[in-house]
Amino acid sequence: MQLKDKVVVVTGSSSGIGQATALFFAKEGARVVVNSRNNMQGGQAVVEQIVKEGGKAVYIQADVSQSEDSKKLIDQAVQQFGTVDVLINNAGGYESQDFLTSLKEDWQRIFDCNLFGAILCSQHVAPMMLKQGRGKILNTASVYGLEHTGDPTGMAYSVAKAGVISLTKNLAKLWSPQILVNAIAPGYVHIPRFDQYPEVVQKDMKSEMRLGRWIEPDEIAHAFLFLAQNDAMTGEIVHVDGGFRLK
Ligand SMILES: NC(=O)c1ccc[n+]([C@@H]2O[C@H](COP(=O)([O-])OP(=O)(O)OC[C@H]3O[C@@H](n4cnc5c(N)ncnc54)[C@H](OP(=O)(O)O)[C@@H]3O)[C@@H](O)[C@H]2O)c1
Repeated sequence: MQLKDKVVVVTGSSSGIGQATALFFAKEGARVVVNSRNNMQGGQAVVEQIVKEGGKAVYIQADVSQSEDSKKLIDQAVQQFGTVDVLINNAGGYESQDFLTSLKEDWQRIFDCNLFGAILCSQHVAPMMLKQGRGKILNTASVYGLEHTGDPTGMAYSVAKAGVISLTKNLAKLWSPQILVNAIAPGYVHIPRFDQYPEVVQKDMKSEMRLGRWIEPDEIAHAFLFLAQNDAMTGEIVHVDGGFRLK
């Protein structure tokens, strides 16, 4: 797919991987919808940067884990730009909790943002993509959705991301050949929060990857760009994990 003038919705693009992805697609000439739940300032700053560089972008606030909001995001994107060609379900985040004492509400919160956001946005965008006979849905999974670390503090996140991987493969089969659905499973990607971790924790995390360093958000954005441009892949989970899985 040529990205010039295509409409790309990137959920959770006020910071981190989503921000880098929004900027990358805008540089390719795509019209970009930037989204976040709380960080409106960050989202608007991404739009300003894109516009300053000669690109086209709008910001739409929406909590994608809520059905009405995820519908509003897709509807407003269509109102602004006429269609959606690429949906990138990226909103989400890690939350640590203890398995034995965690409540159902704790699991629900993590499932809501990491899994239900992708489910709801895909439901809302698919009828239009099927009607127009083409579209792409790209999801942000995680190595935690593939690796079974047995870590009691990251269990809900791992299960949610395993759900994203299953969703990716199921939708790819359901909606091919009109909609191609793929995911990226990143390793540890450098976000400001990681800089606040104790030095020893940062060192341990980096050493889990053969690269021995953080992956940069641009390196994930680059892989999203590849998946959007390639028209022969569907149901793939692309690992951008710095060698995390090589034991
Ligand atoms: N960093 C890593 O090492 C890593 C590794 C593997 C996978 N991932 C995944 O990568 C994705 C992006 O995370 P990141 O690392 O770039 O962290 P980040 O900088 O914290 O970005 C998360 C983004 O998601 C948004 N968001 C969260 N919940 C949302 C919701 N319900 N509705 C709309 N927007 C929502 C946030 O906006 P608000 O702040 O406004 O809520 C923010 O824009 C996540 O799915 C995460 O699980 C990250």
